[in-house]
Amino acid sequence: MKFELVATDNGSSARAGLMQTDHGTIETPIFMPVGTAGTVKAVHQRELRDDIQAQIILGNTYHLYLRPGLDTIQKAGGLHKFNGWERPILTDSGGYQVYSLSDIRKIKEDGATFQSHIDGSKHLFTPENVMDIQRIIGADIIMAFDECTPYPCDYTYARKSMEMTHRWLKRCCDRFDSTEGLYGYNQTLFPIVQGSTYKDLRIRSAETIASFEREGNAIGGLSVGEPAEEMYAMTEVVTNILPKSKPRYLMGVGTPMNILECIALGIDMFDCVMPTRNARNGMLFTKNGIINIKNEKWKNDFSPIDETSDLYADQVYTKAYLRHLMQSKEILAAQIASLHNLNFYLWLVKEARMHIIQGDFIQWKNKMVVDMAKRL
Ligand code: GUN
Repeated sequence: MKFELVATDNGSSARAGLMQTDHGTIETPIFMPVGTAGTVKAVHQRELRDDIQAQIILGNTYHLYLRPGLDTIQKAGGLHKFNGWERPILTDSGGYQVYSLSDIRKIKEDGATFQSHIDGSKHLFTPENVMDIQRIIGADIIMAFDECTPYPCDYTYARKSMEMTHRWLKRCCDRFDSTEGLYGYNQTLFPIVQGSTYKDLRIRSAETIASFEREGNAIGGLSVGEPAEEMYAMTEVVTNILPKSKPRYLMGVGTPMNILECIALGIDMFDCVMPTRNARNGMLFTKNGIINIKNEKWKNDFSPIDETSDLYADQVYTKAYLRHLMQSKEILAAQIASLHNLNFYLWLVKEARMHIIQGDFIQWKNKMVVDMAKRL
């Protein structure tokens, strides 16, 4: 993986960059659609690639390991071959899903034992086997095994958990560095900063993570229920420490407004289930504000879903029609709404990048965060 800065903003810490992987180049800042089980829910690969030009998607170790299982993924030749996505893939390590999804879990020095949310079967994730699993899935960027602390989290727990995440990172690196990719292309490992909402812990964690000198770094444990101001404060503390020359990934964030504010703080990569999950519930993000398409207000509104968008689905379908599909629980409703929201998120980061290069990012960002927050 190679990362190169193309431009830095004068009025903020925002940056525009290029990340090169063996499956293609990613223009940063970037939003990565979440494809938990190897599919970005309700969206075809062709739509992702051609209609909205997604540059990288996510997969989840936890889900893919449980179903379809590693045997199938390895026999397919890796996730790229299995799901037909030829561009870069990043996999999360399970360090978040184990705690949020599985039934029973026990975290010890060795690793985390958990019961599958699918069939109740028992499993153990360790830093070592999570590296091996992600090698087999074949993601271009793989994540260290960590513990994502909840919010609120008492100081002593947050400190101990962070220290264990650091010890786990050493084990992740040792395993990762002593194994090779199975499929003939390069993979890279990103460590994850933790430390809950405690500034001193975040500083210690960022310094420790930076000292591992990996090719990119991530920030975890945020967007777990804390106020946005705390999330921004922690992000700022950490981005001031993580090296400028490497990509910074803020995990699980967020709303369109969160993304712009964190780009201003020096974040390069984002992922979040919000655009797809909220789409399935009828919430549409637009440049001019948020639409709840289930609202009675749209019943006879025959204007296009989004006049300002160049997405085919936004122009050819009307608000009234999409509302009807939602009300009728038609499959197409989720497809159209998911595509719309992802297109908006990708437009937003692309536009942010253009304004960073152009030199007027802050003015544009300040206007956008007001416009996007309106309820239509
Ligand atoms: N996704 C969102 N937050 C986190 C985190 O703290 N750790 C991991 N592994 N994934 C996340």
